[in-house]
Amino acid sequence: MRAVLGLGAAFSLAGLLVYTQRNGSARPVVTGAPSRTVSARAVFGAIRWDAWNGLAGDVVSSTVAQTMAPVKYHWRLPWYATVDPANETKISFNADRQSIMDQELQLAHAAGLSFWAYDTYCVWPTDAHIPECQFWWDTESVGYKATDPAYGLRLHRNSSVKHLMNFSLVLLGSSPATPQLRPRYLELFADPSFQRVGDRPLVFLFNVGRQQADHMGGWAKWREQWDAFRRESIAQGSGNPYFVAMCVGAANLHVAEEARAGLGFDAVSAYALPGGTVGGTAFAAQAAEAREFWGQARAAGLEQVVPVPTGWDPRPRADHEPVWVKEGPEHFLEPTAAELARLVEDAAAAAAEEEPGVALLYAWNENTEGGWLLPTLGNGTTRLDAVAAGLKRRAGAERNHALWQ
Ligand SMILES: *[C@@H]1O[C@H](CO)[C@@H](O)[C@H](O)[C@H]1NC(C)=O
Ligand SMILES: *[C@@H]1O[C@H](CO)[C@@H](O)[C@H](O)[C@H]1NC(C)=O
Ligand SMILES: *[C@@H]1O[C@H](CO)[C@@H](O)[C@H](O)[C@H]1NC(C)=O
Ligand SMILES: *[C@@H]1O[C@H](CO)[C@@H](O)[C@H](O)[C@H]1NC(C)=O
Repeated sequence: MRAVLGLGAAFSLAGLLVYTQRNGSARPVVTGAPSRTVSARAVFGAIRWDAWNGLAGDVVSSTVAQTMAPVKYHWRLPWYATVDPANETKISFNADRQSIMDQELQLAHAAGLSFWAYDTYCVWPTDAHIPECQFWWDTESVGYKATDPAYGLRLHRNSSVKHLMNFSLVLLGSSPATPQLRPRYLELFADPSFQRVGDRPLVFLFNVGRQQADHMGGWAKWREQWDAFRRESIAQGSGNPYFVAMCVGAANLHVAEEARAGLGFDAVSAYALPGGTVGGTAFAAQAAEAREFWGQARAAGLEQVVPVPTGWDPRPRADHEPVWVKEGPEHFLEPTAAELARLVEDAAAAAAEEEPGVALLYAWNENTEGGWLLPTLGNGTTRLDAVAAGLKRRAGAERNHALWQ
């Protein structure tokens, strides 16, 4: 108990220091006082990549099964996967089951998470008539023809414990704000469980850059679609969306910023922070990259959803290359529980001082690429326990700070 209190106190002081430095910085401050205080509580979400429905004949499902088949990767399989006792390279999984979603809702909530941000794509072949979806399948995420990518969100919305977690969307590429697709997402914004920033639905856009803008006739032309999206959401009573442009990697913050400015978005973030070496680089280097992103966005005066990596290790994909992405064997070593808890604690402190006061973990279930939180066959709930520990320590720091005021 003493140790915990000691940590909490040290942490409050670190928070105060940053707070003071910021007020002395050139970042525009609206009323002379920051809109968030050091003791504000950050909201934590995690990205969901729901490619675990094990559909026969589905290119995404079959690729996932292939990439994770080697025995050396079984420890990082999701908790609901099984290995055939008669053939150790035969794995199977099907997370398209209500009982699995219900348990994951309980687990995520218990760890202190507030929402999942669901990767949301064009559906194959339902959306084949939409030219921007064809563009996505032809050039952006080549051949990523998932036939039921929203099974997780459907189960979430149908769950008897739906209320335990909110949801948000990570939209991708040039298609999401087209007139054909907007109604699909507007219906979701109106759900009371849609994650909000104040009264505004929180929505991410990933796979966004010059290539997409050019395809859509330039930033200004494309922005008209996003402005229409805003008006339609306001008109149906679900509020003005808080749109966040995402890049990959701290070195690409300028890509997210260009998209944010070009489309009139509200904030920036990063989806993942890849890196490392073939032999494996310590997780501390990835944590440093995250802190670099937070610092750069802050220094640029940008609102940010604080990105929080839990790893990067796409070696299963390097061994069995998916059609839609080429990723090498470079990776970070997996975080120890203590390293992950520490990063989460720091991210909570950083996010509490930022608008909109939100942190986003990469990821709930990107097990093939190296970012996951859900329980695994080899490590059980180790990562969720670490997240819970980090958030708990941060809450302790907030209580101490409040006592000292
Ligand atoms: C084991 O399973 C793999 C993957 O399904 C398959 O390719 C292989 O032929 C199986 N081996 C035997 C001995 O059945
Ligand atoms: C489950 O979700 C689907 C699609 O979102 C919906 O049509 C259906 O009514 C839901 N079922 C229940 C029991 O909520
Ligand atoms: C979901 O969002 C609503 C507000 O939009 C909030 O009242 C509720 O507490 C949130 N639920 C969770 C699990 O964070
Ligand atoms: C997870 O399990 C693997 C395989 O047993 C082990 O090498 C690794 O140390 C475990 N990770 C943690 C964080 O406990």
